[in-house]
Amino acid sequence: MKGSSRLRRLLPYLAFTALVLTLAACTGETTQYPNSTFEPKTELGRSIDDLWDILLLLGMIVFVLTELVLAFVVFKYRNNKEAKHTHGNTRLEILWTLIPAVILVFIAVPTVRTIFQTQAPAPAGALKVEVIGHQWWWEFKYPEYGVTTANELYIPVGRTVSFALTTKDVIHSFWIPQLGAKRDAISNRTNYIWLTADTIIAPSVWNGFCTEYCGASHSFMRFRVFTVTPEQFASWIAGQQATAAFNAGPATGTDTVQLAAGAAPGYFFPRESMPAYAVPHRAYPPAITFPAGLTGDPARGQTAFMMGGCIGCHTVRGNPMAVGVIGPDLTHIATRHTLAGGIYPNTTDYLARWIKNARVMKPGSLMPTLGKGEFDPILKRTAPVSLDDQQIADIVAYLQQLR
Ligand code: CUA
Repeated sequence: MKGSSRLRRLLPYLAFTALVLTLAACTGETTQYPNSTFEPKTELGRSIDDLWDILLLLGMIVFVLTELVLAFVVFKYRNNKEAKHTHGNTRLEILWTLIPAVILVFIAVPTVRTIFQTQAPAPAGALKVEVIGHQWWWEFKYPEYGVTTANELYIPVGRTVSFALTTKDVIHSFWIPQLGAKRDAISNRTNYIWLTADTIIAPSVWNGFCTEYCGASHSFMRFRVFTVTPEQFASWIAGQQATAAFNAGPATGTDTVQLAAGAAPGYFFPRESMPAYAVPHRAYPPAITFPAGLTGDPARGQTAFMMGGCIGCHTVRGNPMAVGVIGPDLTHIATRHTLAGGIYPNTTDYLARWIKNARVMKPGSLMPTLGKGEFDPILKRTAPVSLDDQQIADIVAYLQQLR
């Protein structure tokens, strides 16, 4: 038969495709698939993954049985030209109502159990973290410690962390694929999700995403999660609780730059240990340029930071004038690895360009275009408040002292 010989010729290709797909699904290396949900690193992730496995298995059994019966009937009656039409068969109808009902019970019991487990209030003693979605970055607050940070979350392994999610504007969704956490941050309501990171993974870093379309830069709303040992976490918290180490102090009325004595920063994830998947690789727009060899002065930078309007939106604890809350808290910006909602590395080149023209770096950014002569794509005119290249270099030098 012509049809069956064609099928026979296709079979090896089909088998090969199936094999490749199966193998591709099996390799679960973190470095290879850093944003996979199939290798959960928390008990929350595992309870969801186990439920998925059960449902997949049940679904497969039903699928295979149904297809076998179908194939059998098609084959058996392939030459039957006179099909008999019948009406009503009570026994059959009871049977095909009961079988799906039983299958649904098998699906419902583990599903409801997992929902109750994951929706239960977090155990007492959990670390509280407030997650606040903004267009387009993440704010993280540790109310027990008075620490606020942005786009970079530190959590201790082995301790339950309870996230309280809210939003400053539109609906966002908080997602850390490898840790199994995914929940919406919506208006006028606080959503909760809690997890406990496995102790064996410390110290490590995971990618986080906004996974609810929230406007022009939705895909640029990323964050990093550092799962660290309790000791590293305590050190990080202590470092973050301290006010900014650099204090050129405008109140002193002198030009002397003073570094607060002994204000060594606490632990933060070492830059050289950042895995490639957690380092942003996006290039900056070539149109934003700086003269080569420009160096900044941190003391002048602090003055420019205060005169240039930055303090209207940003807090630098320890600087009584810098108390803005619209943009990210910059008290310890030099301990962060990324900028602008986790899409650029926090390096001199990127930080300077971000200050010069944030709205070209990131569509729709609330951070204004500040570089002299730069075109602001939202206002559709050149920057009204402007800083020259030297002033920007100075501000960068100042910010890089904030450890
Ligand atoms: Cu926030 Cu998408």
